[in-house]
Amino acid sequence: MRTFNPESVVKNRYAASAKATEAKLCCPVPYESEYLKAIPAEVIERDYGCGDPSRYLREGETVVDLGSGTGKICFIAAQIVGPKGKVIGIDMTDEMLEVARRNAPIVAERIGYANVEFRKGRIQDLALDLERLDAKLKRSPITDASSFLAADELAEELRVKHPLIANDSIDVVVSNCVLNLVEPKSKRQLFEEIFRVLTKGGRAVISDIASDEEVPENLQNDPELWSGCISGALAEENFLAAFEDAGFYGIQILKRDEKPWRTVQGIEFHSVTVEAFKGKQGECFERNQAVIYRGPFKEVLDDDNHRMERGRRYAVCDKTYNLYKKAPYREFFEFVDPIVDLPLAEAKPFDCSRTSLRHPKETKGQDYDVTTEAKNTCCDGGSCC
Ligand SMILES: C[S@@+](CC[C@H](N)C(=O)[O-])C[C@H]1O[C@@H](n2cnc3c(N)ncnc32)[C@H](O)[C@@H]1O
Repeated sequence: MRTFNPESVVKNRYAASAKATEAKLCCPVPYESEYLKAIPAEVIERDYGCGDPSRYLREGETVVDLGSGTGKICFIAAQIVGPKGKVIGIDMTDEMLEVARRNAPIVAERIGYANVEFRKGRIQDLALDLERLDAKLKRSPITDASSFLAADELAEELRVKHPLIANDSIDVVVSNCVLNLVEPKSKRQLFEEIFRVLTKGGRAVISDIASDEEVPENLQNDPELWSGCISGALAEENFLAAFEDAGFYGIQILKRDEKPWRTVQGIEFHSVTVEAFKGKQGECFERNQAVIYRGPFKEVLDDDNHRMERGRRYAVCDKTYNLYKKAPYREFFEFVDPIVDLPLAEAKPFDCSRTSLRHPKETKGQDYDVTTEAKNTCCDGGSCC
């Protein structure tokens, strides 16, 4: 049983640390210096991140930063995604939003375009626009039980009619040292919300603190450790599993600091950056494609439970075939297209619940008996072939 309200403790601590730098919350991170030039000192000094998810962004992407604080990651991201991209910072603490919003026009002027905005919300409830709700509640304040219930209904209506972040609208969700601050009962919903807002094919790149062992109850009951990004941390394996449970695939650790940021009662707290993709959901169709796992491991198991041995040729559905052709898988596979293309519109359903080998005759066709001369296109007219 928690002896304090984690959300209030977090809000109070970050309200204060938005106004004056709290050294204890700073974890030195080597951000790319060229992007820091355009960012005012006040923002950089109040850096409470533990990693740098922005370095995995690309030009033109639409990005959401969860728990944007004074806006440093958003302002770096703004320069990477460029004028064709867009960045939205989400934070629940007014004092953080105030610093970020006051500095946004300064950064825009320095970089030559304005592509960042900050919205007030709780990252475990990315549909609810807290400023819209505030405005409505000012007009009809909660004074009794029935107005409390009406406010609940109003919040639900706002989520549907004016979502803070719409479904399937974001290319990349990033976050820097914030997920650990969300209370345990909302953590599952938090990962589901990240999944909801991403486009199919979108990805999450999250830097956070994770522990090497599960954090015991006594540490979780310490408000200082909780708001200091320690005791709300998930154990490393649970952190990765949370993405899997929410429906992500291709989950991997991009970076893990070898040295712990802190060690408390023998438990090590490391900064890790994890990437996870959305888009494995959907129907499976048979187009006679095959893949060969290149190694180096003897076998692999993907997020749909396809187990593949190195060097063998497996039948895969069109969806899996195309997923493997993209990051993070493409470097691990060879791709075998059928000689005669079967259009998707004519393809039959494929049973993805089992893994089966594919005989080369299936991709070439049973009657294939072509004989050819050795190709000598590798030589420039020499006599080697
Ligand atoms: C450790 S600071 C990190 C700030 C920023 N990402 C950075 O790199 O400096 C945590 C931030 O997340 C915000 N925050 C914590 N829990 C939140 C929640 N549930 N919803 C929205 N914002 C939250 C806090 O207000 C604070 O600005």
